[in-house]
Parts: sequence; structure tokens; C-alpha cells
Amino acid sequence: MTPPTRADWTIRDAATQADPRAAYDRMREHCPVAHDTAGHWTLFRHADVRAVLLDHTQFSNRVSQHVSVPNGMDPPEHGPFRHLIEPYFSEQRVAWFRPLCRAIADDLAQPLQGRDAVDIMADFALPFALRAQCAFMGWPQSLQQRLQDWIQRSHQARFAQDRPALAQLAAAFDAMIDEQLAQRRQSAAAQEADITSELMRSRVNGRPLSDAEMASILRNWTVGEVGTLAAAIGIIAHYLADNAALQQRLRAQPEQLYYANDEIQRMHNPLLENRRRATCPVELGGRQIGQDEQVVINWVAANRDPRVFAEPDCFRWGRNPQDNLLYGAGIHVCPGAPMARMELVEVMDSLLQHSHTLQPVAGRPVLPARYPASGYAQVWLTGF
Ligand code: HEM
Repeated sequence: MTPPTRADWTIRDAATQADPRAAYDRMREHCPVAHDTAGHWTLFRHADVRAVLLDHTQFSNRVSQHVSVPNGMDPPEHGPFRHLIEPYFSEQRVAWFRPLCRAIADDLAQPLQGRDAVDIMADFALPFALRAQCAFMGWPQSLQQRLQDWIQRSHQARFAQDRPALAQLAAAFDAMIDEQLAQRRQSAAAQEADITSELMRSRVNGRPLSDAEMASILRNWTVGEVGTLAAAIGIIAHYLADNAALQQRLRAQPEQLYYANDEIQRMHNPLLENRRRATCPVELGGRQIGQDEQVVINWVAANRDPRVFAEPDCFRWGRNPQDNLLYGAGIHVCPGAPMARMELVEVMDSLLQHSHTLQPVAGRPVLPARYPASGYAQVWLTGF
């Protein structure tokens, strides 16, 4: 098997970054399994993505030497860790967290009222996601700025493929986690109180979690998800501002937000990609993928595949929701989905109740987020 010697595309080029969704749509139609300059294969079609998600024998989640719990694990190692984290997103936990989330959303939405123009990303989405995830973990509000800076620097380093900076950032995050763990080990009151302490007491395969495993779980639940949640809020708010009839319908019938949020994010996925590693030589879309080569799942393109979603840019009630890959599929399907869905319903209801007609601000077009983020860097809205 001879790997191709030239790259089909690069995700970082200016044309792709100027309009990422259009670029991924073009790739899906013209080069659905594409080799990039880093030597990875990106999958753009729904059928290829689904096949890979459901085949954890030929496509492993062990893509890095770093501990990643549970996303970087394969069976049988994955099962016990997955079993450990699922209860944190149970119906009871979601019900416990709902009023807290709503209070954070209302607290941030209220001061937007009466303002001429609001950048939903900086003024609402990012602060909400940071505050909500810290509240969930039981982390102090004082950590929010550090987490926000960390996320920004991590995105910059990933875009620039700056390995030394990425290593430094990993160490900085571990230090932040160590502080949280140390505080709880020292204080009996804190040991009882929150989800971080609960995680510290939990056991897997009959033993406590190591500090590295705990740091990985906490990284995934905080900085891993803050960006995705914030992107989702920006995407939904922007779509509703452009679609007045749907906006008014959801303002009057908030019980429809649950489905509408998923369908809007199908058209514009807030999470861009995840990875797998081929465990053996395999053919996909007529391309030969070598053993140990990395495969990148492009969620944005797969969820806009017209072979599965006719007229993919049309919002439709009752579209085949089982085909929506927003929260993934297979054994790694998002365990946080019930929590994320609840948060997005509360957030959007709060934004709609604190505004009369959300509209784009003339002369201030949206700014797409740069790789590796999805969604927007800026979304200016008026109508609060
Ligand atoms: C809009 C918000 C979210 C979206 C779109 C999303 C999407 C996804 C997707 C597509 C996957 C599958 C990844 C893969 O197959 O490699 C995933 C996995 C995961 N998500 Fe989410 N997620 C969201 C929010 C959350 C939240 C709030 C949490 C927890 C606080 C969370 C925790 C996880 C975990 C732990 C995994 C790995 C599961 C495993 O490997 O078994 N997610 N998510």
C-alpha cells in the first residue's frame, strides 16, 4: 500500500478559514476522504464517519500517548471509565443543575437589555460556558479568567502547531488541577461538597483514580467542553437572529427548543473534529489508509451531507434525528449530551425572554472561528 505523496488539502489555509463550512462542503463532494499536510485522513461523508464510529476494532481511539479518559481509550479499558462518568450526567444530576444554569443565564442576559449591540460570544456565550462548567465542578469563579486564557492560548498553539507551547499548556493545566485537588485534600468541608471531590473518592477497577486520570477527566469536562458549548450558543443565536419566524415561535413555545437546538447545530456543528487511528490497512472512499495512520472525523461536513439530510441548509421539524451526529454515535457517544441539551434549552430560553427581536447588527458581519474551533469568533446582535 503506497500512501499518496501530496496533500489534497490543508485545513489551515486562508480560503478554508474564511468560510469553513463551505470549504468542508466542497471537500465532501469532491474529495470525501482527503489526505492533509500532516499525513492525516479527513472524512467528510456521513456514511464514512458513521462506519468509523461503529467500528472500534479497525479504528482505535488511542491516537496519542497522553492519558485521555475516556475518549482516548478502547474496549475493554474504556468500559469501566465510561461506567464511572455516566452517572454524573444522569437525569437527577441534570435536574439538580437546571436551576443553577438558568440563574447563570438570566444573570448574564439581564444586563444585555437596552444595549444597542451585543457580541454574543464575548458578552454571553463564553462567560456562560465558563461559569456553568465551574459551577458544575464546584470550582471557584476566580478560576474562570485563567480557564478562558488557557483555552485561547491552547487554540492559538493548536492552530500554529506549536508543540512546545502545547506541552507548556498541558503542564499549566495539570498545575491548576493539582491546586483544586490539594485544596480538597486539605479541607474536610470541601471533601463533602462538590463533583470534583466526589470524583476524587470514586473508584475504577477497584482502585482510586490516579491524579493523571482525574486531571484528564476534569480537563475534558471543563476546557474541553467550554469551547463547544460557547460555539453552540453563538451558532443558535445567530441562526435565530436570521430567522425571525422561528425565533418568535420558540419565544412563544420554549418546549420546542430541545429539537430546534439540535437541528440548528446539525446545520452548523459546534464541534469540528475528533480522531481515530487505523489499527490495520483499510480502504475508505477508494483511498488506502495505512496501519497507524490517523483518521479525522469532520462532524461539520458529515452532518450536512445531502445524501442523508435532503436540502441540508433547510431547518426541518421532525427530520431523521437518529442520523444527526451532533453528539456522536457508537461507544464514545457523548455522555454529557443530556446536560448540554438542558443547558442550551435554558440558555436560549433566557436569551429569548430577555430580548424582543434578535437581529444581526448592520455592518457587523459574523466572524468565523478559526481552527480548531467551530462556529463564530464574533456574533453582533441587537434587539435586547
Ligand atoms: C454542545 C455540546 C456538546 C457537543 C456537541 C458534544 C459532542 C460530543 C461528541 C460528538 C462526542 C464523541 C467524540 C468521539 O466520538 O470521538 C463527545 C464525547 C464526549 N463528550 Fe461531549 N459534547 C458536548 C458537551 C459535552 C459536555 C457538557 C460534557 C461533559 C461535561 C461532555 C462530555 C463528553 C465526554 C466525556 C466524551 C467522551 C466519551 C467517550 O469517549 O466515551 N460533552 N461529545
